[in-house]
Amino acid sequence: MAIRMVGVIGYGLMGGGIAQTCAQSGYETVVCEVNQPLLDKGMARIYAAWDMMASKGMLTQGQVDENRSRLHGTLNMEDFADCDLVIEAVIENMEEKLRLFPALDHILKPGALLLTNTSSLNVTQMGAVTKRADKVCGLHFFNPAPVMKLVEVVRTISSSDETIETVRQFALSLGKTPVLAKDTAGFIVNFLLIPYLLAAIRMLENGMASRDDIDTAMKLGCGYPMGPFTLLDYVGLDTTMWAAEAIYFEYKDPLYAPPPLLRRMVQSGMYGKKSGRGFYTYE
Ligand code: 3HC
Repeated sequence: MAIRMVGVIGYGLMGGGIAQTCAQSGYETVVCEVNQPLLDKGMARIYAAWDMMASKGMLTQGQVDENRSRLHGTLNMEDFADCDLVIEAVIENMEEKLRLFPALDHILKPGALLLTNTSSLNVTQMGAVTKRADKVCGLHFFNPAPVMKLVEVVRTISSSDETIETVRQFALSLGKTPVLAKDTAGFIVNFLLIPYLLAAIRMLENGMASRDDIDTAMKLGCGYPMGPFTLLDYVGLDTTMWAAEAIYFEYKDPLYAPPPLLRRMVQSGMYGKKSGRGFYTYE
């Protein structure tokens, strides 16, 4: 099926990055948020990214104007009625997703695909509360979504071959490299990444090395673009904890149990870069 119009629900870090990617790849893009200030904040972040790209010569002013004209904000999910594909990117909370999916199913036209950007929650369960489980799958982007080349296409036991192939082609049209993962908690990347990040926190808790030395060691010793604490702050400590809890819930493997320091930092509102404070402090 041809995808022309895309909907994104949730205008946070990931929803914004996904909406930016879709609009600059030529798709009419509708983004839905719950209130005007959040919608304005999301729009401003994307406009600033396009201005930055123009200032670096990556886009012409004409392309910036075209991108802007393709991006539409709304507070009303009914505006997804004409979308061919909708990507859910709201908070990583299963109750919230199970409330949203039947509502979206009701609004979307019969052939439309319903995707989730969840990093670790059960996609099969989200599909099961709709009447279009064959048209539901995961499409997991990585932060920053406009830059990172990978997407995980997450296949549930109900996703049809046609859905998976359409989503794979859609990912390619966004300039991404898709990999196929089964719907098991953590998919591919977080199943491997989360234990590494949690191990770094445990090292710090146990006083084995300092924050800065652990970050430097992994950057210079392994060639990673960011050390684990910089990456934790970048991804968000809350997001990391929710992903860890979801994988722990599925496997009960202590590797995925959030360390006490992570939980306490999240409880204190230290979410990382987005809240101004995490393992580092931001202006
Ligand atoms: N739109 C378009 N381009 C953007 C952009 C945006 N919103 N933000 C940054 N860029 C571009 C910049 O213009 C720059 O382009 P250039 O190289 O052509 O000048 C390029 O991206 C790199 O940006 P910067 O120069 O600002 O910064 P760095 O070179 O330090 O790279 C980074 C930043 C790409 C974030 C790099 O440090 C990196 O790859 N870090 C690791 C990120 C990572 O691991 N992400 C995955 C996290 S896991 C996850 O998301 C899953 C979740 O479920 C937990």
